[in-house]
Amino acid sequence: MALSEKENLAPPRHIAIIMDGNGRWAKQRGLPRTAGHAAGAEAFRRIANYCRTLGVEYLTVYAFSTENWKRSQEEVAGIMKLLRRYLEEALRDMEKNRVCFRFFGDLSRLSPELQKLCYDAQHRSEEYDVQVNFCLNYGGRDEIVHAARAFAADVAAGTYRPEALTEALFASYLYSGEIPDPELIIRPSGEKRTSNFLLWQSAYSEYVFMNVLWPDFAPEHLDEAIAEYHRRNRRFGGT
Ligand code: IPE
Ligand code: IPE
Ligand code: MG
Repeated sequence: MALSEKENLAPPRHIAIIMDGNGRWAKQRGLPRTAGHAAGAEAFRRIANYCRTLGVEYLTVYAFSTENWKRSQEEVAGIMKLLRRYLEEALRDMEKNRVCFRFFGDLSRLSPELQKLCYDAQHRSEEYDVQVNFCLNYGGRDEIVHAARAFAADVAAGTYRPEALTEALFASYLYSGEIPDPELIIRPSGEKRTSNFLLWQSAYSEYVFMNVLWPDFAPEHLDEAIAEYHRRNRRFGGT
């Protein structure tokens, strides 16, 4: 694409990514799956930085799903260790990177140390260029159930009558709260499914499925996905 054309294509405000393909990347190289996750963490650093350069306001990444606990204990422990390491580093470099963090998911199942890191990262960062929403022990259905429970509790406490519930009020109970829905959701690795990601928020998102494995994902791939997004005709049910 010509540079001038690229300059005219403002990135979406909110991009979400299903960071998939780490295991296959490792397998191709005869490495343990954990090595794939380590390479995936590098890809995440690269892409978060690039999103900041582009001026993307929100980057939501699927890091660990409510279903990923089915994997071997060794793999889960390896992923948790990488997350711990990443968050420690992110806390150290927060001022420099100008990235703030939010966590989407039920953190109560994570280790107390990891929960504390998430809590610290979330509360230390007011001034930022890009907000990273890290989906950890996240499931779209689980998120909706949590929101429904919280609203029901508010009804029981007398804060709301059931009829007060609107789409906007319900959305405010989700992990994503008041932030805009993602305009673009990218899934690398060749799989073409949502795997329980952002079920509510993706109602009108544009999906771009790509054949690259997440650890190989480079700024050019993000450019390509954004260019594809700009070729789409978004109608939102209209004409
Ligand atoms: C995504 O990569 C990372 C997590 C789900 C934690 P995978 O580990 O799912 O990689 P593949 O799909 O097996 O290649
Ligand atoms: C989705 O990928 C979850 C994350 C990337 C964190 P999976 O690899 O878990 O999804 P499936 O099993 O292919 O549907
Ligand atoms: Mg996978």
